[in-house]
Amino acid sequence: MTTSTTATATAGVTTAQGAVGTAHTRVEGRDKVTGAARYAAELPFPGLVHGWLVTSSVTRGRIRAIDSEPVLALPGVLAVLHHGNAPRLNTDYVGMLGAPDPTAAVLQDDRVPHAAWPVALVVAETPEQAREAAETLAVTYDEEPHDVDFTADRPAAYPAEGQMPAVTEKGDLTAELAACAVVLDAEYTTPEEQHAMMEPHAATARWEDGRLDVVDSNQGATWIQGELANLFSLDPSAVRVRSEHVGGGFGSKGIRAHQVAAAMAASVLDRPVRVVLTRRQMFSLTGHRSPTVQRIRLGADTDGRLRALDHHSVNRTSAVYEFVEPATLPSRVMYDAHAHRTAHEVVRLDVPSPTWMRAPGEAPGSFALESALDELAEKLGLDPVELRLRNEPDHGPVSGLPFSGRNLDACFREGARRFGWDRRDPRPGVRREGRWLLGTGTAAASFPSGAGPSTAAVTAEPDGTFTVRIAAADIGTGARTALTLVAADALRVAPDRVRVRIGDSAFGPAMIAGGSTGTRSWAWAVTAAAGELRERLALGAGALPPEGITVRSDTTEAIAALEARERYSFGAQFAEVAVDPGTGEVRVRRMLGIFAAGRIVNPLTARGQFIGGMTWGLSMALHEETVRDRITGGHYGADLAGYHIAAHADVPHIEADWVDDPYPDDPVGIKGIGEIGIVGAAAAIANAVWHATGRRHRRLPIRPDRVL
Ligand code: MOS
Repeated sequence: MTTSTTATATAGVTTAQGAVGTAHTRVEGRDKVTGAARYAAELPFPGLVHGWLVTSSVTRGRIRAIDSEPVLALPGVLAVLHHGNAPRLNTDYVGMLGAPDPTAAVLQDDRVPHAAWPVALVVAETPEQAREAAETLAVTYDEEPHDVDFTADRPAAYPAEGQMPAVTEKGDLTAELAACAVVLDAEYTTPEEQHAMMEPHAATARWEDGRLDVVDSNQGATWIQGELANLFSLDPSAVRVRSEHVGGGFGSKGIRAHQVAAAMAASVLDRPVRVVLTRRQMFSLTGHRSPTVQRIRLGADTDGRLRALDHHSVNRTSAVYEFVEPATLPSRVMYDAHAHRTAHEVVRLDVPSPTWMRAPGEAPGSFALESALDELAEKLGLDPVELRLRNEPDHGPVSGLPFSGRNLDACFREGARRFGWDRRDPRPGVRREGRWLLGTGTAAASFPSGAGPSTAAVTAEPDGTFTVRIAAADIGTGARTALTLVAADALRVAPDRVRVRIGDSAFGPAMIAGGSTGTRSWAWAVTAAAGELRERLALGAGALPPEGITVRSDTTEAIAALEARERYSFGAQFAEVAVDPGTGEVRVRRMLGIFAAGRIVNPLTARGQFIGGMTWGLSMALHEETVRDRITGGHYGADLAGYHIAAHADVPHIEADWVDDPYPDDPVGIKGIGEIGIVGAAAAIANAVWHATGRRHRRLPIRPDRVL
């Protein structure tokens, strides 16, 4: 008999020390490096056929005609789906993360709202046959003029909320700015950027007895299950989504054209259908980070205390979906001022919909804010670390809520000591080493520490091992390993007796791997179930039944019961650069990040996440930029040759470490660490480039031609 009960854990209860906090290699590491770990496009299915998306050759307009007949006569071709014959979808719903982006609801009408919009799916016996047929499919259009030109002063920009207020405001900004001894007013811009994770999006769908079964690469099986259930008007229990291994997500692996098209074709053909996106298709079909234009005004007294802070950000979104890149979020939590204003606006243009990408909001927003702080420090003649320490707020500048731990001062003090900041000559442009100009810079980092409701099941097996089941997603972060350590401690057993199974919506609802909330959310549910199971076993269960004893947890109520507080991770970033004034080349020589990010579950993978995030920051500062062509509305160089990402040769000595940061609002003491590594990193580099050269760079990336 399986015994099943529901457990909840209350924040503030700490588990026994042991596995958590001890370095552990990835439990699936061997499977990954030997190829035994199968990714979404690798799992075998009997009778599998392959779909290839056809994307529009015009930027905007309407489909006039699709001539399927010649293509259907090609070898192996089974079907051509388009708006005239594809199954109808329901788009009138609010999913786990809000209203759906119509971009995923493919083949529903003849409208083409942006370049490379999916207009058809060709299905064939092999991927090669599908691709060849897709490339010959004749589609004609009624073309309409398009507009992809993004600038901040467009009259069509309007305030937009996204998932937070569009505007926050207190005090009299004009009066405070007028009264300030020192005022900075500057505009910063960040470009369109691509997620560019290693594993392209891929899904295989099949229908059995009215049930939809999908193998996919995503950031949350529950999330995709819910979206597909809504789109296909099914009960969620009739949809199963599996994603055992995921080769990177970065915000992009949500509901997309490929899962929906695969499910449609599988229903039409009654066979398993696989749709894999090409790298080129990913540039238009899987979201991106919107460009931003941000204006920051800071006013301070001569001692550096801020009296006025105004952060205004405009981002670009598509004609079909309003996405807000919440770039002023760092200003809402980092610094207080008598007059404090933040605002998000969007401009709708004929471009693909942007989405969350690698610390959405914080990454571009911290570039602007933390560059502005550095500029203010220069004007004040004050050390940039000291300026930040003088402006540490004791409660949320906008919310007025207390912080659940902050410890940013500890990060700066430890970082400055280890980086050798005290020896820094503040004057810009005075250090030379051969042809190189040298400089150092710093910036602060912040990222929310959230948790979402999750369920977990933990089973005591008759052989003395334990099996954890939770619909978590390990998108490369090491979540599976972290949960193994967390479960081991809650059960008070060694980690090698714990097996963690993830990536299956059949395990029950769980939070996504997003917003740096995944591991914290899942660990909470695992701790609750494992803790109760341990207590039950301690009471003496006798011999276990063959199926073991299972305890289930649901953290919905415990999370809802948390008191309102500002919950954030913080960090201090330091960078040293060398700039060649002859070629404009910027070489980062070293980076150091010190973080206050709760209890670190696995120092090995945590360090990897911080360093990975800082590498994103380096990449953002110097390389990443999607260049959109006004004429075609598409991209120049939509591939990993044209889109530059930091390579090993660009990545210098990077160190990441952390300070003690007790976090009573989580049962294990965990804060998220997935994204904070990127926050502030680009600003630290830009500030170092100023220190090296005497020239400010308010526009990313800092390309050689912009340095010259
Ligand atoms: Mo992350 S951009 O919250 O998936």
